[in-house]
Amino acid sequence: MAFPSTLLLLLIAAVLLPLPAALCKPTRTLSLLATPLSPDPVTTPAASQSLDQQQLSLAAHDGNASTLHFRLAHREDFALNATASDLLAHLLARDAARAGGLSSLLAAVGNATRPRRRGGFAAPLLSGLPQGSGEYFVQVGVGTPATASLMVLDTGSDVVWLQCAPCRHCYAQSGRIFDPRRSRSYAAVDCVAPICRGLNSGGCDRRRNSCLYQVAYGDGSVTAGDFASETLTFARGTRVARVAIGCGHDNEGLFIAAGGLLGVGRGKLSFPTQIARRYGRSFSYCLVDRTSSVKPTSTRSSTVTFGAGAVAAAARASFTPMGRNPKMATFYYVHLLGFSVGGARVRGVSESDLRLNPATGRGGVILDSGTSVTRLARPVYAAVRDAFRGAAVGLRLSPGGFSLFDTCYNLSGRRVVKVPTLSMHFAGGAEVALPPENYLIPVDTSGTFCFALAGTDGGLSIIGNIQQQGFRVVFDGDGQRVGFVPKSC
Ligand SMILES: *[C@@H]1O[C@H](CO)[C@@H](O)[C@H](O)[C@H]1NC(C)=O
Repeated sequence: MAFPSTLLLLLIAAVLLPLPAALCKPTRTLSLLATPLSPDPVTTPAASQSLDQQQLSLAAHDGNASTLHFRLAHREDFALNATASDLLAHLLARDAARAGGLSSLLAAVGNATRPRRRGGFAAPLLSGLPQGSGEYFVQVGVGTPATASLMVLDTGSDVVWLQCAPCRHCYAQSGRIFDPRRSRSYAAVDCVAPICRGLNSGGCDRRRNSCLYQVAYGDGSVTAGDFASETLTFARGTRVARVAIGCGHDNEGLFIAAGGLLGVGRGKLSFPTQIARRYGRSFSYCLVDRTSSVKPTSTRSSTVTFGAGAVAAAARASFTPMGRNPKMATFYYVHLLGFSVGGARVRGVSESDLRLNPATGRGGVILDSGTSVTRLARPVYAAVRDAFRGAAVGLRLSPGGFSLFDTCYNLSGRRVVKVPTLSMHFAGGAEVALPPENYLIPVDTSGTFCFALAGTDGGLSIIGNIQQQGFRVVFDGDGQRVGFVPKSC
């Protein structure tokens, strides 16, 4: 009887051996708690507080003068009586403008448009980000005594600016408009100062020998005024003197709620670059689920840290080199190599689709705080999506998509769902394994969940904040690397 059983074994081996190893491995999964969007209007505590009170509650100080540490508020913390579905619709509309604007910014740079004169400024047509940019806000005290101001934290731009009285034109903002005439620490920047010459679109008021700035956004929004030196106050009284800021007397656009913008890009004028001599060139942030503010059980909060404390968590981080685009000094580029779904490497992802072309400034992958949904060069997205669909065999695919999402599932009536794992692989060996709520998100109140990444034809791929949730993302400018620390809010 030995002969037939040996034959059987040989037959089994003959069938199994030619199969790729991946097919023999079970799909790796994670458990997703499938909570649909709540149908009730949300009123968050933050919205009912005045800005100045919030400054106190948002402040956190670790007593270390080499570190600036403070809390971030999500834009939706200021929403009144909107439902989760309304908020999502607004977020996706803003996000389309943001992602499109980042790409058109690069396209304009690539085309080397000649600067155009506008009101005395040599202003490139596009020198900033489009409408409503930014999802996370920080409370900053401006001047002496300090006026509490809500500013967008923006990795996609450099200039720090806020609306200033007297207004030739100001849009509606949350809280009082900063008035430099009441600040003892306000000083004009003179026209020959290197920082004034560093402005992309600077000018000079010769009568006052005072530097002028202007930032024009892709959608026609604009802020213009005096470029000045001012003291900023963070946390409980940590003061940073002589930060160059734009004091905007003429502001038009759709920067709802925020009074200004804290540019934390890589360029010369950005906040981290300006404070580098004292605090070092690094910062890190942790962005919590944007809907966590409406979940009463959640005590996590978004934070941002500048200085020595920014890299404190680095021991547990996976690092990848920080890349630079010679045509665009502001953005934080990373070298994304590919993805794994369900534990298997996604085939058909061509590295060339994700690579920056330094000669043209096109392509590449950036990390952005202000874009919510990750955008991938379309062929890459298609490969990842197809792999996910193939691995998500236990999930019921919904016919049709939702907004920019083309892969949605009907998880109605299910509480805990097993979903395939998703990881990003970066140069230098860093693997970032995403928690399931970072890629399968609820889009309605009836249990539809969508694969929350999208394809783009804009050339630029963007890793958005939904995919960054729950990680401490370390922008280590001193070490020229970017790190991801899981479960670290
Ligand atoms: C989702 O599935 C449930 C049954 O489990 C069904 O009643 C419902 O109509 C489906 N929803 C959609 C949008 O197809």
